[in-house]
Amino acid sequence: MRVFRSIQGYKNWRNEISTSSKLGFVPTMGFLHEGHLSLVRNSVQENNYTVVSIFVNPVQFNNREDLEKYPRNETRDIAMLEEAGCDIIFMPSIEEMYPEEITESYSFPALDDVMEGVFRPGHFNGVAVVVARLFKIILPNISYFGKKDYQQYMIIKELARQQFPDLIIKGMETIREKDGLAMSSRNVRLSVVERENADMIFQLMTRAKKLKEEFSPAEIEKHIANMLVNAGFAKVEYIQISDADTLEPVHQWKDSSKPRIFIAAWLGNVRLIDNMELI
Ligand code: PAJ
Repeated sequence: MRVFRSIQGYKNWRNEISTSSKLGFVPTMGFLHEGHLSLVRNSVQENNYTVVSIFVNPVQFNNREDLEKYPRNETRDIAMLEEAGCDIIFMPSIEEMYPEEITESYSFPALDDVMEGVFRPGHFNGVAVVVARLFKIILPNISYFGKKDYQQYMIIKELARQQFPDLIIKGMETIREKDGLAMSSRNVRLSVVERENADMIFQLMTRAKKLKEEFSPAEIEKHIANMLVNAGFAKVEYIQISDADTLEPVHQWKDSSKPRIFIAAWLGNVRLIDNMELI
C-alpha cells in the first residue's frame, strides 16, 4: 500500500497503471470504522485497484465546533486500510486541495433543499466541491458511498450523472453496532449514558415499519419525535418519511412504493443521522 499526500504524486502513479485496469474509489474523512471498511472491502473485491481518500473537508462543515472536534487518527486509519487490502491512500493537506479561493458552486434542485440541506446550509455544496475535485484527481471507474448518508449518496449520483457520466456510483448498506446504532466517526463523542440511549433511533425506525399498517406517515413522524424527546434526546431536527428516489415527502402511503424514514437528532452535543427503508 502506498500513501500519497500530493496530487502530483498520485497522478504519476495513476498514469502508470494500465488503462484497462478497474479502479475503485472510497472517499472518507478518516477515523475509520467498519462502515468505511465495508465500502473498501467491496471495492477491493470488485476492482484491480482501490484508492481511499482521507480528508476532513472544512468546506462541508457548517459548524466550527464540529470541525474542530472531528476525531482523527491517521496511524490507526493507515493500519486498518492496509489490513482491508487498500492499494492507495490519498491524504492531501487543506492547501493541496484548496490552493486558491473556491469559485465553483453546485445546486441539486429537489435533492439539496430538504432535510440535511435545510439544517446544514452549504453542507452539500461543500461535499460536491470536494467530491468533484477528488473524482477529477483520482479518475475512478467506480466510487462507493454509504446509505448511512442517503441524501449525500443521492446527490453524488446526480453529480456523477451531470459531470462524470462514465463513473458508476454504488450505494452500500449501513453497517450498525450490535444494538443497531449506525456506525459513525462522531459516535466516540457520546457519553456512556448517551451511548446507551443512542440505539433508540434504530428501535423507532424499525417500529415504524410495523406502525405503517395502522398509522399515517405524519402520525408516525410525530410519535417518533415524542419518543426521542422522552428518551432524553436534546433536539429532534427532522423526522421525515420521503420517497427513496425523489426525496419528496410521503403524505399518504399510496404516494410512494419506496418510502424511507430519515432522522436527525441531537444527543447531548452530538448530532446523529440515520435512515431506513420502510418496506
Ligand atoms: P465520512 O463520514 O467519513 O464517510 C465516508 C463514507 O463512508 C460515506 O460514503 C459514508 O456514507 C460511509 N459510511 C459512514 N458510516 C457508514 C456506515 N455506518 N455504514 C456504511 N457506510 C458508512 O461522508 C463523508 O465522509 C464525506 O462527506 C465525504 C463523502 C468523504 C466528502 O468529504
